Formats: sequence, C-alpha cells, structure tokens
Amino acid sequence: MANHTRQLNPSMNRWYQTHACRPSVAMQQLCSNTLELEDGEMLTSPEQLQFLAFLAASIGAKKAIEIGVYTGASTLAIAEVLPENGTIVACDTTDKNINVASIAWNEANVEHKIDLKIAPALITLQALIDEGEKNTFDFMYIDADKANSKNYYEFGLQLLSSGGIITIDNMFYGGQVADDSCNDENTIATRELAAFLIADDRVDYSLLPIGDGLAIARIL
Ligand SMILES: C[S@@+](CC[C@H](N)C(=O)[O-])C[C@H]1O[C@@H](n2cnc3c(N)ncnc32)[C@H](O)[C@@H]1O
Repeated sequence: MANHTRQLNPSMNRWYQTHACRPSVAMQQLCSNTLELEDGEMLTSPEQLQFLAFLAASIGAKKAIEIGVYTGASTLAIAEVLPENGTIVACDTTDKNINVASIAWNEANVEHKIDLKIAPALITLQALIDEGEKNTFDFMYIDADKANSKNYYEFGLQLLSSGGIITIDNMFYGGQVADDSCNDENTIATRELAAFLIADDRVDYSLLPIGDGLAIARIL
C-alpha cells in the first residue's frame, strides 16, 4: 500500500525507481493501468516488486503464496521468476480488479503458474494445511488486511519449508508505527507484529525501509 518508497522525496524517488527497476512490458502496463484507478495507492512500489522477484529468484522459489492480489502486480513479479512448472497461490477476497491483472498475466505468459483463490485468506491457508501442503512452499508475500498479518505469518511458518522466506509489507504503516498519537487497530497490530518478529527465534530477520517498510523472515 505505497506506490513509492516513503522516506525519499519525489525527485529521489524518481531517480531510485529509474535505477532500481527493470519492469517487463507487462509489468509496466499493469502499473500504469493500476495508477489510473482511484485506489492505485495500494499498488506495491516498483522497487519493492523488483526486490520481491530478486529474493524469490535468489532462493530458487518454486511454490509461492501471496496474500493480497489487487491488480496482480506482486503476483506477476513473483510468477515471472518462478520456473515453468512453478505455482503461486494468489489470495484475495475480491476479483473486482482481475481484468487488469489478467491482461498482464496473459501478456507475460505466466497465467498457468497462478492459482487464484477468491476467499478470505485465512480460509484458503487453512485449506492448504488440510490438503497436506505443510512445508511445501518456499516464498510468501503478505500484503492484505493488516490486523491479520501475524496470522498469515504463522500460517507461512507451517506452509513454508526450512530456508523459505516470508515477506510482509507496510511494516511502517505510513510512518504511524513511530507516532505515539496514532493508535488505530492497524497501527497497533503492526507495532505488535514488529516487536514480535524481531524477537522470533524461529527465523532470521531483516526489516527494510523500502516502500512502506518490508519485513523479511527466513525460516530456520
Ligand atoms: C494493498 S492491496 C494488495 C496489493 C498487491 N499486493 C500489489 O502488488 O499491488 C490489498 C489487497 O488485500 C485484499 N484483502 C483484504 N482483506 C483480505 C483477506 N482477508 N483475505 C484476502 N485478501 C484480502 C484486498 O481485497 C486488496 O486487494
């Protein structure tokens, strides 16, 4: 939920995005179509999309999970680096933006790798466990309802194998995590999650000031 890195001023952001990103033609079209939408701010920033793809490729990810599809940018970024027989389970409660996503997924020829699940993600994740998919995934991106990010993370710890990577967006929550006057449900949940993650000895951990703050946990 930040189409740029918040800590940078507009000219530095332009420079950064020019020098940090190598978007495919399909990704360029998807991002420009998304930024025309009223809620285009929800788009994951190009530099973060690039970094997610870099991370997934670095570990040779074959099976991924994404929570929060929206217009399909992060789905596309990850699907583009999965092998031909790779899969991304892409979870959202709505398919109202799927037309934007589908055009790009088709253009990039990755549709066959995407398993779209339209349902609350907690239901989809529990179904994966029930279907015997524990420890079979290797990459996860969490970018949906913030109050549930910790629940998604706990599912990720069950569904991913050792060495797998869980990434979580909006760890700065627009800078509100460091503002004592902000005490809405999502800010409090994000603060609690940040405190929990830094102390979680089940994972190696890093928190990057890219986009709106990206948590990276590698399962030990
Ligand atoms: C910030 S957008 C995702 C942006 C996307 N990752 C991208 O790369 O542009 C958040 C998405 O989470 C979805 N969402 C909200 N609550 C959800 C839930 N309980 N389960 C699954 N998806 C949910 C919303 O419908 C919305 O499409």
